[in-house]
Formats: sequence, C-alpha cells, structure tokens
Amino acid sequence: MKAEIDGKECDIRAVWFENGKVRMIDQRELPARIVIKDFDDHLEIAEAIRNMTTRGAPSIGATAAYGMCMAALNGKDIQEAARAIKAARPTANDLFYAVDTMLADLAKGMDPVEAADAYAQSMVDKCKAIGKYGGELIKDGMKLMTHCNAGALATVDVGTALAPMRQAWANGKRFFVYASETRPRLQGMQLTAWELNQEGIDHAIIPDGASAYYMSKGVDLIITGADRIAANGDFANKIGTFDKAIVAKHFGIPFYVAAPISTFDFNTKTGADIVIEERSETEVTMVKDIRIAPVGSPAKNPAFDVTPAELVAGFITEKGILKPSEISKVIG
Ligand code: MRU
Repeated sequence: MKAEIDGKECDIRAVWFENGKVRMIDQRELPARIVIKDFDDHLEIAEAIRNMTTRGAPSIGATAAYGMCMAALNGKDIQEAARAIKAARPTANDLFYAVDTMLADLAKGMDPVEAADAYAQSMVDKCKAIGKYGGELIKDGMKLMTHCNAGALATVDVGTALAPMRQAWANGKRFFVYASETRPRLQGMQLTAWELNQEGIDHAIIPDGASAYYMSKGVDLIITGADRIAANGDFANKIGTFDKAIVAKHFGIPFYVAAPISTFDFNTKTGADIVIEERSETEVTMVKDIRIAPVGSPAKNPAFDVTPAELVAGFITEKGILKPSEISKVIG
C-alpha cells in the first residue's frame, strides 16, 4: 500500500520481517501518524494481535505466522508458542490456519523466515486474485458500500473487500464508496477511509446508523470482508455487518463477501458454532481516556456478528466468485 513516511512516498505492508525483527504498522495510531513497531518475542506478537496493533483476519494470520517464526528463531517450544498465539483472539479463522500452516512447515524443516514470508506473500497473491474477480462486479458510476476495514492493512497488502475497488479504479472505472465508521474501534473511518484516500478513490465516511438511509437513496453493491465462513456459508464479520445484509436484502442490493480460502472453516458447520469475541466494555464507554457513558451504565461489546448465508449473493475468493451453495463443492 502507498503511505507517506518522513515526507517520502513508500510502498509498505501491514506486517513484515526485517533485520531479525517482525515489523508492523501500529493501526491504532492511524490516520494521525504512521508508527512502525518492532517485535522480537512471540508473546509480544500475540499481545499485538490481542490489543489490535494489527488486525483484520488475513493480517492477523500473517502476524501469527511471523510470531511462530520468531518463536522458532528464539528456540522456544513450538507447540507452546502455537497455543499462546492461537489464544490471542478467537474469531478469525486465519489465525488458526496460519499457526497450523507454520507448524506443518517447521515440521518439514523449512526455514522459519522463509516459511512466514511465503505465508504473507501467499495472502497478497490471493488478494490480487480476489481483486481481479471482484473488480468485474464494479461498473462505472456505481455506488458501493463497505464496513469495517478489509483493505491492505487488514490483509498484509491489497485487501479483500477493497481489492476489487483498487483493481476497478486502476482499470479506469469511476465509482463512489460509502465507508461506515464502524463503532467502537472506527476501522471504517480511520483505516478504510485512509486507504481510499491514499488511492484517490471517491468516498465518504458515514455513521453506522446511516447505512439504511443511503441504501434507500441508491447503493448498487456492498462488499465486506469476513473473519470466519462456516461450511454452509454463514459468516462472521465486524459487528454491524448483519444489519447491512438485512437492509440490503430489503432494497434488493447484492451483498458480496470477499475472503481468501483460509477464512473458510469447514469444521464449523453453521454460523451458530462460530465463537464471537467479546471485547472490553471500555471500548464502548470511553473515548481515549475519557468516559463518555454514565458512570454505573454497563456496556456490551461483541466484536463480530453472524450473517446467514441466504443474505449473501456470492463469496469473492482467489478461486473465483462462489454462491453459498457452491462453496463446499469447490473448496470443501
Ligand atoms: O476486529 P478487527 O478489526 O480485526 O475486525 C476486522 C474485520 O471484521 C474485517 O472485516 C475482517 O477481518 C476481514 S479483513 C480482510
């Protein structure tokens, strides 16, 4: 992704390995500034996933792969490291997929850095393929909507939901994107809008509660990412996705989910079996260090919701666009 660092335009990834350290953009600091953090301990890397220094399913996966790499380089017990890293967050399938991939690669004797780099690069390649297939859905003059951040920051580079937009824009198509702010962590406002800005893609940030209003005025296509897709096509994504899918159905707007195959979990039969992360209530009640809710009022903070497969027009994957009924035939 493009980013300006110290006045210079750079091409940068969400997470990478350099000079013996794992480096990542601290996504909590955007859009105000680009802060790059260095890690040399797998437990600190697990904590960076938990506290959302890095976030978004494929980026969580790649960060976990680098965490496993660091544990191996430091001569740590690999099985113990795998357990610690898997405990960082419960919902994104990519976290578990990446750790298991690394366990298998290390067991084969692969070099830890080469294995983790190959994992991260494979995500970027898959996102490019998602961009190619999904870009065909976008036509000149369309109004699009997305939720949370499923861009380069969330996927090492390129993005899932944002990949078709990047590709279509690069192909000369002109369209408009509504990015919903995504309370409480504001990934839509602070990350998606930042990425769309870098690319020069026309967009506006909208409050989460304004999605139905703008759909009623005319939205042609919705694309979101996913954290885990069950075998029947139900999927978990950032809280507020389910509302959008229901409203999209009401207005007849096609709702697509862009995700690599690593996000599909065939051991989870339906969405009811997906573990939904509950995060701290202070993410809801506090802004920076100031409490904005009445003292004594508790808050609830589920990080994800589950959208039923029947609301999904298709899954945009690196193997093409699949209807929910086709996923187990093509990739099961
Ligand atoms: O809590 P987050 O920021 O990790 O949640 C991210 C999302 O919900 C994304 O939409 C999802 O991981 C897909 S990322 C390509």
